[in-house]
Amino acid sequence: MQFKHFLKFNDFCRDEYEYLFERARWIKQEFKQYRQYWPLSDRTLAMIFDKNSTRTRLSFEAGMHQLGGDAIYLSTKDTQLGRGETVEDAARVISRMVDLIMIRTYQHDTIKRFAENSRVPVINGLTDEYHPCQIMSDIFTYSEYRGSIEGKTVAWIGDSNNMCNTWLQAAEIFNFQVRVSTPPGYDINPERIGLNDATHYETYANPREAVMNADLVTTDVWTSMGFEAEAEQRKNDFAAFCVNTEMMSLAKSDALFMHCLPAHRGEEVSAEVLDGPQSVVWDEAENRLHTQKALMEYLLLGKIKNEM
Ligand code: CP
Ligand code: NVA
Repeated sequence: MQFKHFLKFNDFCRDEYEYLFERARWIKQEFKQYRQYWPLSDRTLAMIFDKNSTRTRLSFEAGMHQLGGDAIYLSTKDTQLGRGETVEDAARVISRMVDLIMIRTYQHDTIKRFAENSRVPVINGLTDEYHPCQIMSDIFTYSEYRGSIEGKTVAWIGDSNNMCNTWLQAAEIFNFQVRVSTPPGYDINPERIGLNDATHYETYANPREAVMNADLVTTDVWTSMGFEAEAEQRKNDFAAFCVNTEMMSLAKSDALFMHCLPAHRGEEVSAEVLDGPQSVVWDEAENRLHTQKALMEYLLLGKIKNEM
């Protein structure tokens, strides 16, 4: 049987994202009107979490219910995965019992091995390397406020983490520029991310230069899940990388601010910016629900005609 996984942002092409955004807009509008839409009745999503989550769990679980299906939460801690059952064996078993699987884990290789042994589509709900569902929501959110992100400039300030890597992959697909500013020793690794070329990003030692005239300024926690042992060291290393009002004022006057959340006010972003008028962080979070509903519908039913 032919089916697709969604493990990395560049697993999908631009046309597929345009289709998903069109569907997400329609699904969001129906949801806001309290109209029932149950294309996935009798379908089941298994969600496997190796790490904590608020938004990802809730958006997938609520999203699946709202599409008429069921979602089952599985934590590595209380499944046999936590007692040494191999990822391959777990994939073979779980994928015989459900229609769709979402995984949040550490190494990207784990989700790849799972997908290779799965009979059903697998979605990346975050790995150390990538967070494609979040960037799908972020680009959809950008389009709601400002239209297409094509040709725009995104300033990434802070850690070269899963969010940063995924923005870099997205820039090649949507044809925009990413200016990355990280402290020394936390640089991006373009080969590891599998970028096609170096035409969609530039690196800056000074975060203020990266932000200059940007259309969108974005950042993320200094210490991602799995890196907690480095937290104190990172607080020192990232001290000059807080997106505050002064830094934000260097971007275009209508620039947006994004953060995937959870955020730490006073560390990677000031409270004034996070809670200020340029911040669209709550929409980014809400749009996880609508874009992932479009994603699940697409992975299970393929392209369907828009009712609009
Ligand atoms: N942004 C995001 O993925 O949030 P959670 O960790 O709460 O799922
Ligand atoms: N970079 C963060 C994102 C959390 C949603 C982490 O991996 O912890």
